Amino acid sequence: MKTITAIKNSKGKIPLTVITAYDALFASLFDTKVDIILVGDSLNMSFNAKPDTLSASMEIMIYHTKAVCAGAKDTFIVCDMPFGTYTNDAMALHNASRVYSETNAHAVKIEGGVGRAPIIKMLTQNSIAVMGHIGLMPQFVRSEGGYKVRGKSEEDILELIEDAKAVERAGAFSIVIEGVMADAAKRISAAISIPTIGIGAGVDTDGQVLVWSDMLGFFKAFKPKFVQHYLEGAKLVEDAVDTYVKEVQNRSFPRLEHTYSK
Ligand code: KIV
Repeated sequence: MKTITAIKNSKGKIPLTVITAYDALFASLFDTKVDIILVGDSLNMSFNAKPDTLSASMEIMIYHTKAVCAGAKDTFIVCDMPFGTYTNDAMALHNASRVYSETNAHAVKIEGGVGRAPIIKMLTQNSIAVMGHIGLMPQFVRSEGGYKVRGKSEEDILELIEDAKAVERAGAFSIVIEGVMADAAKRISAAISIPTIGIGAGVDTDGQVLVWSDMLGFFKAFKPKFVQHYLEGAKLVEDAVDTYVKEVQNRSFPRLEHTYSK
């Protein structure tokens, strides 16, 4: 398992591989293959069919993080802090401490740049490892009026660089950069000394993260530009279920080898 020090030292070297997982079964398939498993609040959309991440709760995140920790015993695990659970110091410390006391996760992830830096600093000073998250931040979807790719103007790039620097200064060990123009993500990565993990941020970050159900082609509602399907999971499952239904109906399943008989 990669330690926090190893993750930090990977800056500028072989890119970090990060994938989300929400349950023990898939986590066990990803275990030891990737550097980090993220229990993302994206589970609210891809696993629970909600329109956004906003209604994910601490209870939901802890439930899924426990399951992921049970399935992946040898991979660094990060639990996303859901919307509204870290808006002041007391609340953030209480909820992030729950992640450590109720699960085996190694770190929490927090969305926000300059504005969230004081909370990140308070958590890291209380021995809670924090992964930052800047750029397009899904928890800001309503306040920002949608999902908007960032880093299109020089002014916005400079703002993002300030966000990244503030998150680094606050003690985060890495930062997710989501939905940012590739040249901007490259400049952000060059401006800080902790690894950046990109999603929809081009190839010049220090690592990549994808949501497992996007990457394996299970999520059918839409396919963002930055997603590659490494498997057509939904089609494979649907075809298999069609075959099962047909074989049950025409009595070709179960066959002799599946049958207890004398
Ligand atoms: O919730 C999530 O899965 C995330 C990743 C997209 C980085 O935050």
